[in-house]
Amino acid sequence: MMAKSFVDPDLLANKKHWREYFEAKVGFRNYWYPACFAHEVLEGEVLTRTILGEGMLLRRVRGQVRAIRDRCIHRGVKFSDKVECYTPDTISCWYHGFTFRWDDGVVCSIFGAPESSAVGTRRVKTYPVQEAKGMVFVFVGDANFEIPPLAHDVPPGFLDDNTALEGESIIVRANWRLGPEGGIDEIHRYLHRDSPLLVNTSKSMPLGHAAARDQFELVERADGPKGVIDHFKAEKMFFDGQIDGKTVVKGPNFGPGARRPVYSSAWLPSCVKVVGFPDEGITLFEWYVPIDEVSHRCFMTLSKPCNSAGDAAEFKEEFKLRWKPLGLDGFLMQDVRARESQQQFYSHDRAWFEEGLVEDDFMLMQWRKLCSRHSRGVQTPDHLV
Ligand code: FES
Ligand code: FE
Repeated sequence: MMAKSFVDPDLLANKKHWREYFEAKVGFRNYWYPACFAHEVLEGEVLTRTILGEGMLLRRVRGQVRAIRDRCIHRGVKFSDKVECYTPDTISCWYHGFTFRWDDGVVCSIFGAPESSAVGTRRVKTYPVQEAKGMVFVFVGDANFEIPPLAHDVPPGFLDDNTALEGESIIVRANWRLGPEGGIDEIHRYLHRDSPLLVNTSKSMPLGHAAARDQFELVERADGPKGVIDHFKAEKMFFDGQIDGKTVVKGPNFGPGARRPVYSSAWLPSCVKVVGFPDEGITLFEWYVPIDEVSHRCFMTLSKPCNSAGDAAEFKEEFKLRWKPLGLDGFLMQDVRARESQQQFYSHDRAWFEEGLVEDDFMLMQWRKLCSRHSRGVQTPDHLV
């Protein structure tokens, strides 16, 4: 019998070069994903998240964040419907009182049946958790999967010492795959032509680049992150949008010296890195964490080298006053609107056959094929039962 899939199984066979990517409608399994910012999960409080369709609860217990599946092993109710934590390191199900330890998920008591054999033997699923750079990462995958280092699942540079990270997350009503694809889309700069960020930083941005197939780099070493980098080496940039030879729209151009020295890249499982965004010396790391087939949580984060607490405090202020309104609200939200507008079309599996890509969209194909080559597993409906 054919294994269940989130996509139409009849279409799967046709996507032989990027079948796994096509099938990964709800994401790739066996990867680390950011769940929240560290400051969002405070000691003693419980936070709910859905990642790859899996509902989970997070709680900080004596400084350490723990994560468990948000579903009781007894009769399946969601703990989050009525959270009951009588001690710091346990959670009790509000239905029959099964009580689980946060650190290993083991049943440590059943209030109405204290002599049950389930006590000490059965457990609810727990997720490995790691904190880095002010973010909480959760490993979503198979129980017997050998857990890779976090450094393999984040873009190079993200974990560098002496950097400070600022950002926020929002829920975007679009499939997660539209996120990284927007980040490495060669010809979508047209979308950003009126962003207030460009005027504020006095940086030029063409409407697009001529496709130059030697400008990208595949990063596929066995012992590190897997990604595709677009170096934007193309000399040919288009600043004038013309109809019948007449310029009707222009990309902001502050002269050749004002070219933004950016390059962007996409990394498994679902992150885009843009060096030089929103301005020189700052790097964007943007995650698109699958929630379900039609939505993802987007973490928009900016990283800057900071050698002292004073530098970090200054960057925090700079983020709040300048980069949040201009870089996030005034630029990245333009991409969010585009993704949400694409969603109706891409909600149909056939869309991935009917889209009208052109040769300048070749970065998208590099990304899709890279994901398929290195996928550690695809989330399927069977993983959610
Ligand atoms: Fe949770 Fe019964 S459903 S204890
Ligand atoms: Fe964009």
